[in-house]
Amino acid sequence: MVDIRKAVFPAAGFGTRFLPATKAIPKEMLPLVDKPLIQYVVEEAKSSGLQEIIIVTGMGKTAIEDHFDTSFELEKLLQERGKYELLKMIEEVSGMVHFAYTRQKKPLGLGHAISITRNLINNEPFSVFLGDDIIDSRVPAMKQMIGVYKKYSTSVLAVQKVPRSDARLYGIIKGKKVAPNVYRVLDLVEKPKGTPPSNLAIIGRYILTPGIFNALEVTRPGAGGEIQLTDALKILIQTEEIYACEFEGARYDAGDKLGFLKANVSLALKRPDIRADFVKFLKGLKL
Ligand code: UTP
Repeated sequence: MVDIRKAVFPAAGFGTRFLPATKAIPKEMLPLVDKPLIQYVVEEAKSSGLQEIIIVTGMGKTAIEDHFDTSFELEKLLQERGKYELLKMIEEVSGMVHFAYTRQKKPLGLGHAISITRNLINNEPFSVFLGDDIIDSRVPAMKQMIGVYKKYSTSVLAVQKVPRSDARLYGIIKGKKVAPNVYRVLDLVEKPKGTPPSNLAIIGRYILTPGIFNALEVTRPGAGGEIQLTDALKILIQTEEIYACEFEGARYDAGDKLGFLKANVSLALKRPDIRADFVKFLKGLKL
C-alpha cells in the first residue's frame, strides 16, 4: 500500500452562489470568524498527515497564494510593535506545509481541474479537498478516510446522509455496507433528476488512485456542461473498486449563503475568546 502524501485543492471555480461577494474575492478567502475557509481545510489536511498541497487556481485567485506566502512587511511591523502572538500566528500560516500552484485556464469543471494536476501527482494515490466543505470533527475527516484507504488500498469517497429531497444537489452513491460507516460503491450519479439511488451524498473529500487520470481523459462534459469528477468515477469503477466512508463530524457547505452563516455561528460558539459575549448577543435576539 502506497502512503497518501499529496492533497489537491481545486479552487478555480467562480463561486456564483456567493455573488457579489465573490466577484473580486475568491470564495476560498471568505472568513469563518477570523480565518479564511481554505485555511480550515489546509489545517485538516495537515493534521491528517498530508505534507504537500497542490492548489488549482484560476483568474482572480492570487489572494490565496498571498495568504500562504510569507509577508515580510507585515512580519517586520508586528515584530517592531512587539505583537509577538500575532507574529507567531502569521508565521504559522506561511510555514504550514509545502504549497504548489497550478492554473486552470478555463473553468471546465471539477474533473478537469483535477486532470491538470496529473504531472504534479506523478502516478501515486492522492487526496482531494474542496475548500467550501468545512468539516468540524473530533478526528479530521481525511484522517478517517485514510483509515479506510489503509484497509482497502483503493479510492475512497467521503459520504454523508442527506434528506432525499436534497439528493438532486449532490453526487449520490449506491453502496453496499461492508463495515460500520464503510460502503463498497456499486454505482454513482451526479445530481440525480429522478429517484436517487440512496441518501448517501458525496462530500468534498476524496482519496483517488492515479487511475482517475485515464478515466478523466475519456470523460465527456456532463451536468452543467462541465467535466464532472463523478462521471470519471463511474468510468473508474468499471476497472477498480471504490469505497465510501461515512465520516463522523458536522459538515457545512460554506460555499452557500445559509451554510456559510451556520458555519460561522457554530465555529464562533466554539471560540473561547468570543463565546460568552456571542451567546449573550444571540440570546438577546428577539427571534
Ligand atoms: P462548485 O460546484 O462549488 O463551483 O465547484 P464553484 O464555481 O466553486 O461555486 P458555485 O457553485 O458557482 O457557487 C466545486 C469545487 O470545484 C472547483 C471549485 O473551486 C470548488 O472548489 N472547481 C470547479 C474548479 O477548480 N474548476 C472548475 O472548473 C469548477
